[in-house]
Amino acid sequence: MNTYLVVGSNYISQSEILASKLSAKVLDIHRKIFPDGELYVRIKEPEKIRGKVVIVANTLYPRQNDSLVETLLLIDAVRHNNPSKIILLIPYIAYSRQDKIFLPGEPISAEVVLKTLSHIGGDCLITIDIHSPKSLNSFNGIAENILVSDILVEKALRYVEKPIILAPDKGAIGRAKYAAEKHGLEYDYLVKQRDRITGEITMIPREITVENRDVIIVDDIISTGGTIVTAAKLMLKQGARRVVLATSHGLFIGNALEKIKASGIVKLLIANTLGTKPNDPLIEVVDVTHRIADAITKLIGKSG
Ligand code: R5P
Repeated sequence: MNTYLVVGSNYISQSEILASKLSAKVLDIHRKIFPDGELYVRIKEPEKIRGKVVIVANTLYPRQNDSLVETLLLIDAVRHNNPSKIILLIPYIAYSRQDKIFLPGEPISAEVVLKTLSHIGGDCLITIDIHSPKSLNSFNGIAENILVSDILVEKALRYVEKPIILAPDKGAIGRAKYAAEKHGLEYDYLVKQRDRITGEITMIPREITVENRDVIIVDDIISTGGTIVTAAKLMLKQGARRVVLATSHGLFIGNALEKIKASGIVKLLIANTLGTKPNDPLIEVVDVTHRIADAITKLIGKSG
């Protein structure tokens, strides 16, 4: 065995599928929580990883802060056992939306997380649809952002005909363009504004005609659902026939799911990037593990 997987709590349920696609072995981890709430991890057979490629896999939702600390502890435990390379697989990177200073006095949280991951010992990083790909410049090593909007749109095409692909804001245009071009579809974006203090969202339609057309709205994250629900309602108000949502990371905070269900959409597709799995007939969870496995295989091949 040349490749090992060291897996954090949020990624356990997906690790065996990935391991079988990579012909890798998942190492047993002893984990516990000390009485004061601190985390403890120990790789049970650390001698196995000397000179080997080790993939440290975890995703940073739910329990973002604990998951981040657990991931850092796992990376450090691996590093002390002299692997040939540490590849980090973190499908969802928490704090990625604070990717710049919006108001004076704020930190750049995305930069803090990415710098820390590489500083502790990650040589390469693979993530899925990070909020702003530019943030990956803070990772000191090879960092690859995998888009999955094309996979989600392919599944969404079962519910709509000749749709237009829409991003709910200009910043999301990259993932709309990627999916649209793969499937030979039109794409565009809406103009979104969010009040940095109240969080309230307003959206201004551009010169797009959606009347009697099907629409697929693609985005990176559903958190409170505000963005995607505002976009869906606007499209339906403008005469769209059917609206389907395709989003990489479905967090569904608070009553997000209720709001989405009430918005009039036909289907919601999300990728399996988190440690949570919603169970609702409106939602289809799409497995993107094959794309992760391909990216890791290429990375191992490239870097030897
Ligand atoms: C923002 O720019 C992101 O791309 C998402 O649209 C946003 O973070 C989703 O958050 P919420 O669901 O709370 O509107």
